[in-house]
Amino acid sequence: MTDPGNGRLAGLVALVVGGGQTPGETIGNGRATCRRFAQEGASVVVVDRIVERAEATVEALATAGHAAVAVAGDVTSSADCESMVAAATETFGRLDILVNNVGIGGGDGGPVSLDEAVWDRIHQVNLKGMYLTCKHALPVMRAQGSGAIVNISSLAAVASTNMLAYKTSKAGVNALTQSVANGNAKHGIRANAIMPGLMDTPMAVDALADALGVDRSEVADRRDEQVPLGGRQGTAWDVANAALFLASDEASFITGVILPVDGGQAARIG
Ligand SMILES: NC(=O)c1ccc[n+]([C@@H]2O[C@H](COP(=O)([O-])OP(=O)(O)OC[C@H]3O[C@@H](n4cnc5c(N)ncnc54)[C@H](O)[C@@H]3O)[C@@H](O)[C@H]2O)c1
Repeated sequence: MTDPGNGRLAGLVALVVGGGQTPGETIGNGRATCRRFAQEGASVVVVDRIVERAEATVEALATAGHAAVAVAGDVTSSADCESMVAAATETFGRLDILVNNVGIGGGDGGPVSLDEAVWDRIHQVNLKGMYLTCKHALPVMRAQGSGAIVNISSLAAVASTNMLAYKTSKAGVNALTQSVANGNAKHGIRANAIMPGLMDTPMAVDALADALGVDRSEVADRRDEQVPLGGRQGTAWDVANAALFLASDEASFITGVILPVDGGQAARIG
């Protein structure tokens, strides 16, 4: 990303939760979003459960001359969510944008094989985490009379998959987004979700290749074949650009939308 931005988020403060990334060859959705937002003029608070991951994102932003801070935080902790919002207001004076990027799916399966503890963990991280960040961010946005929330869901919410806990948690994210949009429109706050399809990120490709003990290219090829548009997966930049649009004033009349970013996979579902 060497292009200079166009100031689409100039003067705004963004909190990107899950803004580090799983290590791997490509870039993750959260880190790409932080970079894209910073490039467009936002000051960015980068939160991750593993703070070194957030720090690596901030380092990349700082090298390019952007204002950003790293904050350690686990979305399953209400106290951590309160602290991450406070970090935004204390460091940059306000909070305009919240991106909820955290999502996990490890150990998932069908209802018979799925371990109860795994169901609980996936729902806590993927769904309860978004409720908790909204719980603490919304009062600040309401006091400002403005704000934009972008939740990272998944096409799995509406597509066929045997990942029961992941699917139901992401379907919950879609419902949460609509509920937050409905309840906060009167405060000037918008809430939208993105459903990424198959993206070539480390979490999706490298982690699966490691688990299966195969080369990443094998996993990538299998995913590419399933995508109508161009026969290739998307990248984290596709998610980041959609998040940028939804967070910016260009989307000022858009709220409660669940946007697939999937190279046409949702169109197959109808
Ligand atoms: N890559 C895909 O194909 C794809 C498809 C659909 C949806 N998604 C969604 O995209 C989002 C993430 O993508 P990514 O590539 O940035 O993933 P990633 O794993 O690279 O980044 C997510 C970050 O969240 C952090 N994290 C995990 N649990 C946390 C917690 N409890 N509290 C705070 N931080 C935590 C991780 O440490 C990681 O750095 C997820 O919501 C995922 O479900 C991805």
